[in-house]
Amino acid sequence: MTERKATALSCANIAFIKYWGRKDHDWRLPLNTSISMNLDNATTTTTVIFDPTLKADQLLIEDTETTPKAALRVTEHLNRIRKLADTYLWARVVSRNSFPMGAGIASSASAFAALTVAACAALDLDLPERELTILARLGSGSACRSIPAGFVEWHAADTSEESFAEQIAPPDHWDLCDLIAIVQTEHKVVDSSKGHELVDPSPFAAARLAAATRGLSVIRKALMARDFVAFGEEVEQEAIRMHAVAMTSQPSVLYWSPETVRILQAVRTWRAAGLPAYCTIDAGANVHVLCESEHAPTLKRQLHTLYGVRDVILNRPGPATRLIDEHLA
Ligand code: PMV
Repeated sequence: MTERKATALSCANIAFIKYWGRKDHDWRLPLNTSISMNLDNATTTTTVIFDPTLKADQLLIEDTETTPKAALRVTEHLNRIRKLADTYLWARVVSRNSFPMGAGIASSASAFAALTVAACAALDLDLPERELTILARLGSGSACRSIPAGFVEWHAADTSEESFAEQIAPPDHWDLCDLIAIVQTEHKVVDSSKGHELVDPSPFAAARLAAATRGLSVIRKALMARDFVAFGEEVEQEAIRMHAVAMTSQPSVLYWSPETVRILQAVRTWRAAGLPAYCTIDAGANVHVLCESEHAPTLKRQLHTLYGVRDVILNRPGPATRLIDEHLA
């Protein structure tokens, strides 16, 4: 038997209405529906090789052996795919990111989306996009939103079959830019997977859920109409709501650093002075600053002047997760 190999390239995504908290942790069923955009310049490339000579799965990220915890999560995900393909072959997984891992740029989203698509292709599993999103979701919730192209909605549902992601607008629908201001590249203290489990005791959890549900239609409408101010106001509110829940979880989770707050305040000052930009923040200290493309060069320059900003990554709406011919191994 020969080895079977495929490579996939996937974009990370930034959520405008966030996935924060689950109604079922084992099945990764989210408390609320979320909406995101793929990030064309924050990508993961993953090669999966099912090899009859291997005695266990192997995982290399950025040319380095990973922690047993990360390797186990990948093995568990490969087991789901092996079961579908009816194979027991172990795999070698080689993965590289175009951005710092574990720093709130949703590396798990692009990682599990790329892993899902590459592993399925290597085993000749030809699944429709909807099934791929469900499969990716089981690896990491937000990964389902990295499978389709452009602007994507992930449905909250009571069953796994109904909790899938689908495109709501293609990448060229709106020339929205996401400038990621990198202030921290170290691994975050509490990974998002754990953060979802701590939501319940927050006294703000129910209020945030109600607000996120209302916000969903505001975002959908503003996105479709390309109404940047209505869109940005709601996106920034939602990020603060998510972090208010994290901060009041038990134990409390504080992702922000002084640099995070400095950027939030600077963007408000610039906005008051006529530069249309809004912030959102995932499970980390880095800040995503959203604007329409005409303002991206000015914003990028201004972000670079802020103390503590190490880098700024400019993203536009990205494509779907896709197979490529350039293998990493
Ligand atoms: O998919 P996870 O478990 O890494 O959770 C992602 C959580 C956030 O990035 C904070 C929000 C989101 O919707 O992407």
